[in-house]
Amino acid sequence: MTEQQLRALLADMSLAEKFGELQQMPGQYYTDDCIETGINAAFDFTEEEVACIGSALNVLDPARIIEIQKQHIARHPHGIPMLFMLDIIHGYSTIYPIPLAQACSFEPDLVRALARATARESCAAGQHVTFSPMADLSRDARWGRVMEGSGEDPYLNAKMAAAAVQGYQGDDLTAEGTISACVKHFAAYGAVEGGREYGYVDMSERMLRQYYLPAYKAACDAGSGMLMTAFNAIAGVPASGSRELNAILRDEWGYEGAVISDYGSISQMYSHGVIQNPLESTKRAMDGGVDIEMCIHHYRRGLPQLLESGEITTEQLDRAVWRVLNLKNRLGLFEDPYHFASPEKAAKLQNCEDFLQLARESVPRCSVLLKNDGKLLPLSPDADETVAFIGPFLNESDLLGGWVNQKVGRITAATLQETLQARFPARDFTYTAGCALLGAEDAMMAEKKHAAFETDADRRCAMLEEAVAAAKAADKVVLFLGEHPQCGGELAARADIRLPKIQRDLFRAVAAVNDTVVTVVFDHRPVELGDIAETSKALLNVWFPGTMGAAGITDMLFGDAAPTGRTTMSFPHTVGQEPIYYNRLPTDHAPEFSPIYITGYVDCPLDPLYCFGEGLTYTDFAYGEVRLDKATLHAGETLTATVTVQNVGERDGEETVQLYIRDPFASVSQPVKELKGFKRVFIPKGENAEVTFPLTPDDLRFYNEDVDFVWEPGEIQVFIGHDSRVSQYKTFRLEE
Ligand code: GLC
Repeated sequence: MTEQQLRALLADMSLAEKFGELQQMPGQYYTDDCIETGINAAFDFTEEEVACIGSALNVLDPARIIEIQKQHIARHPHGIPMLFMLDIIHGYSTIYPIPLAQACSFEPDLVRALARATARESCAAGQHVTFSPMADLSRDARWGRVMEGSGEDPYLNAKMAAAAVQGYQGDDLTAEGTISACVKHFAAYGAVEGGREYGYVDMSERMLRQYYLPAYKAACDAGSGMLMTAFNAIAGVPASGSRELNAILRDEWGYEGAVISDYGSISQMYSHGVIQNPLESTKRAMDGGVDIEMCIHHYRRGLPQLLESGEITTEQLDRAVWRVLNLKNRLGLFEDPYHFASPEKAAKLQNCEDFLQLARESVPRCSVLLKNDGKLLPLSPDADETVAFIGPFLNESDLLGGWVNQKVGRITAATLQETLQARFPARDFTYTAGCALLGAEDAMMAEKKHAAFETDADRRCAMLEEAVAAAKAADKVVLFLGEHPQCGGELAARADIRLPKIQRDLFRAVAAVNDTVVTVVFDHRPVELGDIAETSKALLNVWFPGTMGAAGITDMLFGDAAPTGRTTMSFPHTVGQEPIYYNRLPTDHAPEFSPIYITGYVDCPLDPLYCFGEGLTYTDFAYGEVRLDKATLHAGETLTATVTVQNVGERDGEETVQLYIRDPFASVSQPVKELKGFKRVFIPKGENAEVTFPLTPDDLRFYNEDVDFVWEPGEIQVFIGHDSRVSQYKTFRLEE
């Protein structure tokens, strides 16, 4: 439809149709074949309201979606099609590594490719919008939703959020195989105090703008069709009713996409103690720029009254309706209301060989090798040695992690034991679980997450004994340990981020009888590894690797693929260090100030156990000195920083070269380091690569005391290295 036709449609719509466009219906209204991601209000709709509904949430079956759409168009006074929306967070039926794992690839191209494949499956299945990417910067591993984001760095977050949007949407949303992105949660949901789910957020505007907003902006600039507001308040103002956030989004950034609330975030303004009644929250949300209310029905009841009383204007209503119509038009729904939905195509695409292969190849690129003493990994595929494979993940079929629609058609990929047995039928391997995923000590979490846990002490003891016997008899042990697959995502904040005690007991018992232990860890967050890190000879963090996790892990264990991921969240020594992140601000009690009076703890190092950007692979790299092509950089110029990286190991390999800067003296404190560039380079063994990074004054901007986005003349330090611990740097002067 042309803009003119769309304007004419808007002008011709009745009030009931306009109110309807801003309403969303939970899938339960239409079918039992749907999922539930929030509470539902009573379905007390009039026929006219149902006829004018603008979108639906959580409907799964493509044939049912086509049917609903057909009925809806016939019934709608102007035949305006509905939008179908769903949380498709890291794959539709083929599941890829969790978003945090994908970020650890440091490969926007990979994130784009996985989003592209996801869009192809989702589009054929009838979905129009996915509530992804989550662009919430996350610095506190206690928060369960860190798994859905890209970690602690604003620069990397922004790159990954933009890549996801580009992957989902392609260049033209009317094309087959595309779905609209919906970047979330605007804003700063990842900064909930203490990592507590639905917790409180408060920070300076400078902190918000410098760290938390860039990724949302990058997604908006990449053309995200929709944006979702957050549950949390910021400094007491609910994000779903914030005129300030709306002004940033609409006036500063010029974002013209549709804005949807989170599930109930308008009605929950009440619990923030900010409004007295639903009518007030409806007004605040409309003033705060929310176009569509997700499922709960304050807009439905409140907008007609507010318009009647003049507390909201026709312009406001029309602006909101326009943005929803515009998204439908971007998707080409007025020409093809089904947007290429096809049960046959969906069935063909689901878990097709191409996507399964892509899923398998993504596992090593997202996995982080944290330790590899004596190059224990990779294991030899044909050595004459006994390997005992032990752990509750050995026969776990769910390696998918949180935010997976269990009802969507899915293959149950081979487990690790099945994969290993099939790959090495003749090898002298032994297999035993050793324990359950959770023990009685985890009862509270297990009950909240509807997860099973070991209650039989005798069985627990017997399984442990069997594992110890297997470990004793083996030359090497590979342990598969981790968080429960359902203990990540929403409603999964943890105050204790260690692995379950039952698994820590298994680790200790096995390590006591065999000193050659490889530990493979499954987690939704950088868990507190403790003595597992100290005692394991090799430590491979695979996050939740998705449908092809077992194949991808086996590829790494036996060298068919090398892990090349780098962690984008710091692993703490202890949860007491949380929130912990590399780009922290300096304090006056810095080490250079005094060897005694320095910031930190008396019982724990200041730095994390494993830092941002850290990760090994199956070869080693050596870095030369940083070389700068200018001693002074002026406005309008570009400085080039270069480093020579040499592959000094025994195998060809890929290295993620990282460039950080530090502005040691500015009008306001600047982080001790900031990532401003990264490049993955393939370097054959024994060879070198010259890696260059451009830097301009704009790359060095920050928010000053007046919250202006500026760069200031002065010395800038440039670091290029393997990870955020890099210490050698060169300086240049930034001048007007
Ligand atoms: C949830 C989540 C949000 C999700 C939405 C729809 O409460 O906060 O991320 O997209 O509801 O399921």
